Amino acid sequence: MSLQLARRLKSVKPSPTLSLNAKARALAAKGADVLSFAAGEPDFDTPAHVKDAIKAALDAGFTKYTATGGIPELKAAIVEKLAKENNLTFTPEQLVVTVGGKQAIYNLFQALLSPGDEVVIFTPYWVSYPDMVLLADGVPRFVETSADNNWTPDPNELRKVLSPRTRAVIFNSPSNPTGAVISRPALEALAEVLRGHDCLIITDDIYERLLYVDGPFFNIANVAPDLAPRTVVINGFSKAYSMTGLRLGYAAGPKELIAGMQMVQDQSTSNATSIIQKGGLAALKGPTGPIDEMVKAFARRRTLMTDGLNKIPGVKCRLPDGAFYCFPDCGALIGKSYKGAMVNGSMRLSEILIDDFLVAAVPGEPFGAEGFLRLSFATSDANIEKGLARFADFVSKLS
Ligand SMILES: Cc1ncc(COP(=O)(O)O)c(C=O)c1O
Repeated sequence: MSLQLARRLKSVKPSPTLSLNAKARALAAKGADVLSFAAGEPDFDTPAHVKDAIKAALDAGFTKYTATGGIPELKAAIVEKLAKENNLTFTPEQLVVTVGGKQAIYNLFQALLSPGDEVVIFTPYWVSYPDMVLLADGVPRFVETSADNNWTPDPNELRKVLSPRTRAVIFNSPSNPTGAVISRPALEALAEVLRGHDCLIITDDIYERLLYVDGPFFNIANVAPDLAPRTVVINGFSKAYSMTGLRLGYAAGPKELIAGMQMVQDQSTSNATSIIQKGGLAALKGPTGPIDEMVKAFARRRTLMTDGLNKIPGVKCRLPDGAFYCFPDCGALIGKSYKGAMVNGSMRLSEILIDDFLVAAVPGEPFGAEGFLRLSFATSDANIEKGLARFADFVSKLS
């Protein structure tokens, strides 16, 4: 038999962050002293009270199917969180608990898009957005932003790309990969454009707790409450509670959309893992001390990494407002020569860094930002200092 895979698979590619991480892990397993700045996860342990709740749920035999959309007590706690912390009102029917924020976005596109429907994505973007749109037979439409104005989308550029086929626009602030936060006035101007266009607004708030500028956190539904009824909030426990591998997230939005997403989930994974949902409940109800401590450490490291990167000739880095990524402009290094061959792009930069200097840094190209690298500062100060020294050593060898 000649095995033929689905045509839609031809348009997507493996996640570059996951594959670079796999390479770094494989090198480390062979004993290499790899310094990884590729991970999209906190280096802090999951808070003890969350782990205890998961263990207690396991011991109590809470191991059976739950309702697809989540256990009622977790849904109630999320509804309460959204009201108290985000000033957004949802009913439990407007909420679905998912296997991570990633599944929430995937299911959303599966539920929303028909072939040819368009989704507007601001560049640089989280690598999975375009591929998840493509997997739902949709068409990603990009609006470019630039480091020069802190990656703020231009309302006129947004207006130009909106079309009768536009079904959704996705916001991610603080952003992966740039760490940028879209300001209130900028969000207001973008909201004004969206008032004239009947489409869904997605706000991916997964980095909401990792904020280094004056709070509180806000999203487009806060800035433009009249748009809240057609906004869907994506969030999860991975980044704020260091629960990446435990896979727990949620979406809150229009009832019909959430029902559609739940149907997709009914026919695919069913519920998020029973005992992990109890962990999520403990995370929301428990002390915030562990998060505050983590955010304090990240705030210190973002300065350490940004300052260090800016000392390397040819590298320019903005201080990120949130998340845990530095996104330096390495454009001045592209076109230089290394070991007699031209460094022809960020993919090559990343390859040399891992192969010859044992430093894992994700290329900007798959995020829609050629010439940039993404380095996570969710690692120790010592690793950051050592990694930057290796990066500087590499740059000194370019001619
Ligand atoms: C912007 C963004 N959204 C969503 C996610 C999904 O996270 P999870 O599925 O672990 O909740 C990630 C993870 O890296 C992300 O960076």
